[in-house]
Amino acid sequence: MEKTMMFIVCSTLVLLCSTSAYAQKGKSPPSPPISLTPTPAPAPAPEHVNLTELLSVAGPFHTFLDYLVSTKVIETLQNQANDTEEGLTLFVPKDKAFSSLKTPSLSNLTAAQLKSLCLFHALPHYYSLADFKNLSQASPIMTFAGGAYTLNFTDNSGSILVGSGWTNTKVSSSVHSTDPVAVYQVDKVLLPEAIFGTDIPPMPAPAPAPEVDSAAPADAPDADSKHASSESSSTPSSSYRIISFSTRSFLVLAFSSGMALLL
Ligand SMILES: *[C@@H]1O[C@H](CO)[C@@H](O)[C@H](O)[C@H]1NC(C)=O
Ligand SMILES: *[C@@H]1O[C@H](CO)[C@@H](O)[C@H](O)[C@H]1NC(C)=O
Ligand SMILES: *[C@@H]1O[C@H](CO)[C@@H](O)[C@H](O)[C@H]1NC(C)=O
Ligand SMILES: *[C@@H]1O[C@H](CO)[C@@H](O)[C@H](O)[C@H]1NC(C)=O
Ligand SMILES: *[C@@H]1O[C@H](CO)[C@@H](O)[C@H](O)[C@H]1NC(C)=O
Repeated sequence: MEKTMMFIVCSTLVLLCSTSAYAQKGKSPPSPPISLTPTPAPAPAPEHVNLTELLSVAGPFHTFLDYLVSTKVIETLQNQANDTEEGLTLFVPKDKAFSSLKTPSLSNLTAAQLKSLCLFHALPHYYSLADFKNLSQASPIMTFAGGAYTLNFTDNSGSILVGSGWTNTKVSSSVHSTDPVAVYQVDKVLLPEAIFGTDIPPMPAPAPAPEVDSAAPADAPDADSKHASSESSSTPSSSYRIISFSTRSFLVLAFSSGMALLL
């Protein structure tokens, strides 16, 4: 009889301990958001990209830069580059693309046409290379020149093809791609139908063997999905811990009632 009393006291203690521990355990999950973790220092304001500087050191893109400066389009583009909400995507042909352009010539263009040609190489929004998969579905895409000045994009398994009717070329490298400014090198000068008409001469000789393209755009979605899966797996594991804890306290109870039967 004395033993039984002692056992009841003991098992009551065990029960109390386990329920209070359980209560603490149950309370603990909401506490992390409440606890004041040091807020990360605010990211430094992004330096504005200086397009003039960027285009003078990369490339060489001197011919294109000269056109941008003489038409004052560089100011429009720099303004857009400073606009961190929308940003800018610019396609830049190398000097060689201009020197190898025989017909049609740019020398006969009016100042207004030359300006439109420059703006035709820009999109008034920042697009990462990965975004071009979507842009190819949304083509034709309005350029900075507006109106009928549109470009078609095709994502050919990571290789981005750019079409203007007169010009079919591809993005051959990324010069700069950090939101809000993307600058991509293209192999040819983009010639708009809005200037040169739709009477496009038959395709010249086929393009030389394609160069190897960087596989950079493939990284982004991968990292995203990894992040998402680690996030979703953390929730079940913490609830599992609670379940297993209550199972353990249940076992303690079962064990003590088994002892009671024996006594
Ligand atoms: C951009 O760079 C060019 C060339 O380095 C320089 O002349 C110009 O002052 C710079 N513009 C700004 C706004 O910093
Ligand atoms: C762009 O931002 C830079 C740096 O803040 C500034 O010096 C420049 O004048 C701005 N240019 C335009 C066109 O807004
Ligand atoms: C440029 O204009 C001149 C005179 O109008 C003409 O003779 C020449 O063929 C034109 N060049 C091109 C490439 O259209
Ligand atoms: C890409 O296209 C899909 C379907 O058209 C759309 O739901 C998604 O928002 C687009 N993403 C971007 C970044 O525009
Ligand atoms: C762009 O794509 C549209 C729709 O696919 C097509 O109708 C148009 O002819 C294309 N334009 C050029 C310049 O390739």
